[in-house]
Amino acid sequence: MKKILVLMGSPRHDGVTAQMLHCFLAQWDAHIDQGNRVTVIDAYKTNMKPCIHCGHCKHTPGCMYDDFIPVDRGLQEADLLIIASPVYCLGFPAPLKAIFDRTQQYFEAKFSLGIQKPVQKHKYGLFLAAFGSSDPRGVAVMEEQLRLEFRVMNATLEHTVIAPNTDTIPLNGETIGAEMDRVLRDIKTKLC
Ligand SMILES: Cc1cc2nc3c(=O)[nH]c(=O)nc-3n(C[C@H](O)[C@H](O)[C@H](O)COP(=O)(O)O)c2cc1C
Repeated sequence: MKKILVLMGSPRHDGVTAQMLHCFLAQWDAHIDQGNRVTVIDAYKTNMKPCIHCGHCKHTPGCMYDDFIPVDRGLQEADLLIIASPVYCLGFPAPLKAIFDRTQQYFEAKFSLGIQKPVQKHKYGLFLAAFGSSDPRGVAVMEEQLRLEFRVMNATLEHTVIAPNTDTIPLNGETIGAEMDRVLRDIKTKLC
């Protein structure tokens, strides 16, 4: 049974990001593993405190704030990590960015405390991105951020699925379904 962790960066439960995520999870259920365990962490509900660079994690594993613990638990257990996010000002919405910044504790665990793998289990990484325009720069910037973050989260960014022009064109279920199908076939060979 594979475990999926979703970090959800959209505040809109009926938005395009949510539709993309539902499409992926429905196809996962249908084609891979109905008994899978999915944990969705809604970045807007976590109220994650931003990293204040206090240096605590440089000397002691973990963070002085305890609000990251559910994210850490999810990351330690997951086989598949899904980052589902809209593009906001060419980057991640602030609540999701706050979660990413808090992974600095893994960076310090590795490079200051010598803990080789602060996150033990390797994860297949999938990025679902929705954006209002046809400008691809936001996704390119966010992919770069993810590649950096994923190094300390012990994940590899294997795929990005995009939904552009969301402010003018509704999500095309057929196109996105076909794209998810392609991703699922790859996951099947690499993960299952
Ligand atoms: C604060 C804010 C900033 C945004 N910045 C961008 C942007 O830089 N580039 C872009 O293409 N769309 C931008 N958008 C549009 C959203 O990416 C788009 O509406 C997306 O579909 C929202 O995701 P959702 O439907 O899951 O809520 C922005 C929207 C908001 C609210």
